Amino acid sequence: MSDLRIGIVGVGAMGADHAERIVRRISGARLVAVSDPDTARAEELAVRLSGGGPAGGSAAAGAGAAGGAVRVIGDPLELVGAREVDAVILASPGFAHAEQLFACLEHGKPVLCEKPLTMDAASSLQVVEAEHKLGKPLIQVGFMRRFDPEYAALKQLLDSGELGRPLLLHNVHRNKANGPGFRSEMIVRDSMVHEVDVARWLFGSEISRITVHAPKPTGAVPDGVLDPQFAVFELANGAMADVEVFVNFQVGYEVRCEAVAERGSATIGLGSGVVTRAAGHWGGAVPEDFRVRFDLAYDIEVQRWIDAVGRGEIDGPSAWDGYAAAAVCEAGIASLNSGQPVAVDLADRRTVLG
Ligand SMILES: NC(=O)c1ccc[n+]([C@@H]2O[C@H](COP(=O)([O-])OP(=O)(O)OC[C@H]3O[C@@H](n4cnc5c(N)ncnc54)[C@H](O)[C@@H]3O)[C@@H](O)[C@H]2O)c1
Repeated sequence: MSDLRIGIVGVGAMGADHAERIVRRISGARLVAVSDPDTARAEELAVRLSGGGPAGGSAAAGAGAAGGAVRVIGDPLELVGAREVDAVILASPGFAHAEQLFACLEHGKPVLCEKPLTMDAASSLQVVEAEHKLGKPLIQVGFMRRFDPEYAALKQLLDSGELGRPLLLHNVHRNKANGPGFRSEMIVRDSMVHEVDVARWLFGSEISRITVHAPKPTGAVPDGVLDPQFAVFELANGAMADVEVFVNFQVGYEVRCEAVAERGSATIGLGSGVVTRAAGHWGGAVPEDFRVRFDLAYDIEVQRWIDAVGRGEIDGPSAWDGYAAAAVCEAGIASLNSGQPVAVDLADRRTVLG
């Protein structure tokens, strides 16, 4: 079977990371096109990953050992429709996803869309409905923690029933620092959204109510920014989850969680991989960011997506999962603003998907 030809929209941190992954580590796929309003960034990436210099126009040719020519296409929607692109990775900012997802659906192109699916629950639901009308799943959402070996092992353990019924999930999510434009609601929509998906997935239940609290903020953020935040999720099956999200922790990237069930608990993300004893100290390294901690999860996510697309399927979080997370985050932002618990307004899955 010939390689799946991938186009990437948005080649900032995440898109460039996926581009490297496709070219250097993934089998069954090759990168053929990139698009980014920052054309210099797109050109640089295309040239680097084409393994040679630009061959004229905006196409970076020069067949490299790594995988052939990568074309720079100015308009993201043109990339989606391009005949040489079989499937798309959307790594543009969340505000651009809705229009680009609809274009993927219109052209019948499978798409791996980085989270968030879209910026609000209403547009996410429209995406779910539009995909459903086509009668085949084309959208997979980039909740990559589901592919992390530690999270996957925890899910398997909980599903096995060995620990009994899951009751509680404690989550910690810390980043080293965030840029000056970061606002309080982005902590919910861009960071906490991962724990929203993790809680729904691990416990196999929708979140019906969310409360987001904010203690007195760290001195590391400008006035008005609420960081850290502490949220409580109430799940429809009666379980509960809490999450601390602290995106200006200063130290490094730290994600861990503990599931508590009737007959035991299980913890992942302790970061105790390699512990050294030297020069009078012992310890390990704190990852700088998510790309280091979840590198393997992204590789597994993308490889499984490529393999599934070859079979005409998806193999991971669906558009519905993206919509459900958007609905929870919308309620979370309302709770952050009001200080009160907010019920999640989620459409009935059977009504929407039949
Ligand atoms: N799964 C994860 O762990 C994870 C981690 C980080 C980011 N993300 C998600 O990935 C996406 C990109 O985040 P990032 O950190 O790479 O951001 P970034 O700012 O580093 O890169 C975004 C890129 O998109 C380009 N861009 C801007 N508007 C665009 C448009 N309309 N169409 C196409 N490209 C456009 C920008 O020029 C930039 O190069 C976001 O949806 C983000 O939430 C996911």
